[in-house]
Amino acid sequence: MARYAVIGSPIAHSKSPLIHRLFAEQTAQDVQYEAIKVEADEFDTFVLDFFAQGGAGLNVTLPHKERAYNIAKVLEPKAELAAAVNTLYLNDEKTLCGDNTDGTGLVRDLQSNHNVQIKGKTILVIGAGGAVRGALVSLIESQPAAIMVVNRTVAKANDLRGVFKEKFDIKTSGFDRLEGKYDLIINGTSLSLSGEIPAISSERLSENSCCYDMMYGKEDTAFVAWAKSNGAAFALDGLGMLVEQAAESFLRWRGVRPETAPVIAALRNT
Ligand code: ATR
Repeated sequence: MARYAVIGSPIAHSKSPLIHRLFAEQTAQDVQYEAIKVEADEFDTFVLDFFAQGGAGLNVTLPHKERAYNIAKVLEPKAELAAAVNTLYLNDEKTLCGDNTDGTGLVRDLQSNHNVQIKGKTILVIGAGGAVRGALVSLIESQPAAIMVVNRTVAKANDLRGVFKEKFDIKTSGFDRLEGKYDLIINGTSLSLSGEIPAISSERLSENSCCYDMMYGKEDTAFVAWAKSNGAAFALDGLGMLVEQAAESFLRWRGVRPETAPVIAALRNT
C-alpha cells in the first residue's frame, strides 16, 4: 500500500484524509493517507525520513509551503513561480520534487465546476500573501483582460507585480483608491477566518460579477454572505478549490484524475 500524508500545524481539522480516501475508493487505488502534525523545527527531518522510509507523497499546508519549496530539489514551473510547494513526491531518480496545485485548483473550480470563464475578464484579487501568489500563477495562464491586486499593505501588492512582470501587467492599489468594476472578485485575505470582510465597496460589482472566497466554512463565509447580499451573480467559497487542488495532487501521484463532483458534494454534507 502506498503511503501519503498531509503535514502542517494545526492539522487536526484537515479534510484532506477524507478527500483522498474518497478519491482512492472511487479510482480503486491502494493508498493510505493520513494527517500528521509537523512543527517548523522538525519539518526537514520529517520529510526526508518519510521518503527514506518508502513514503510515496506529501501534501504540505500552513505554515510550511515555503519550507517545502526550499527543500524540493526539482520544482515544477508553477511551484517555482508561486515560491511555494503543496505537493512533494520522488521522481524516477528518487529526487525530491515539488509542485503547487493550489492555483490550478482555483481555476478548475471556477471554470469546470461553475462555468465561470476567466479569459478576457477583469479580475480583482484581494490580498497579496502566499495564497494569492499561488492563485495568480494560474489566473494569468487563463488569459484575463486585467488583474488588479488590492492589499492593505500596498508594497506587498507591488512585490507581486514585480514577480509576474514578465508574464502579465498586474495593477495594484490600496483599498482607499480602488475604482472600477470587476467580473471576478477573489478574496485571498485571511479575514474570513475571523468573520471579517475586506473594505470593498459594492460599487466594484457589476451585474454579472462572480465573487470567490478562497476560504470556506460550514456556513457562508463573511465574504460570501457580503457577495450574496450585494447581488453578485455567483458567490462561491473555496471548498471546490480545496477538492480540486487535492485532485491535482492525486493525479500527479497516481496518474489518475478522480471525479471531484461527488467528493465536493460529500464534503458539503459533512
Ligand atoms: P497566506 O499565506 O494565507 O496568503 P499571508 O501571507 O499572511 O497568508 O497573507 C494574508 C493576507 O491577508 C495579506 O494580504 C494580508 O494583508 P497585509 O499584506 O496587509 O498583511 C491580508 N490581511 C490579513 N488581515 C487583514 C486585515 N485585518 N485587513 C486587511 N487585510 C488583511
